[in-house]
Amino acid sequence: MAQYERNPPLNDADLLPDPLAQFERWLGDAGAAGVLEPAAMSLATVSAEGRPSLRIVLFKGLHDGGFTFYTNYHSRKGEELAARPEAALTFWWDRLERQVRIEGRVERVPRELSDHYFHTRPRGSQIGAYTSRQSRLLEKREELDARLAATEQRFTGQDIPLPDYWGGYRVVPETIEFWQGRANRVHDRLLYTRAGGNWRIQRLEP
Ligand SMILES: Cc1cc2nc3c(=O)[nH]c(=O)nc-3n(C[C@H](O)[C@H](O)[C@H](O)COP(=O)(O)O)c2cc1C
Repeated sequence: MAQYERNPPLNDADLLPDPLAQFERWLGDAGAAGVLEPAAMSLATVSAEGRPSLRIVLFKGLHDGGFTFYTNYHSRKGEELAARPEAALTFWWDRLERQVRIEGRVERVPRELSDHYFHTRPRGSQIGAYTSRQSRLLEKREELDARLAATEQRFTGQDIPLPDYWGGYRVVPETIEFWQGRANRVHDRLLYTRAGGNWRIQRLEP
């Protein structure tokens, strides 16, 4: 059982008033500490019937006050977000004994932003995103490989266009909790909640 003894106490005074700036500071710390994939976050969505589902996606930056990620709009998560545009995110940086939890409503990012990001990706990833019908059943891997080859051939010498079924979302936070491990499981938890145009910071029991 790990004892979380690395961290000094986390106090309100250590936190920036803006949780997004505080998040960027912790994300930077995680990168500097050599966390393998500091941008990996768990994304929870809910079906129309209220059944939760969870998967990891990559955080791709803050945009207009929201946490962005990119995916297929027709995937399971995409369909769930179309029906219920709310989500929860969790980051866990083991080397720092830190967790961040975010909850909020979800919006698609502007098309221009998705288009820009899509074309920064390696061509192979663009072909993959164009071709994959994410979350659908696939009889055989070979069938997908053949479709990938067909996409490649179809766009020889041309840009891969951004498919209308692919792009970004942003999770606009209502709450953000910063959690830091402490000895004896008596961890520090500081919760930001939107209060008008500002943020209120409160401490939660571990
Ligand atoms: C480290 C890691 C990063 C991932 N990043 C993404 C991502 O940014 N976007 C994405 O659509 N899927 C990403 N995936 C795959 C998802 O976890 C998931 O398999 C996929 O999005 C389908 O989810 P869904 O069927 O619930 O829609 C990532 C998986 C891992 C393990």
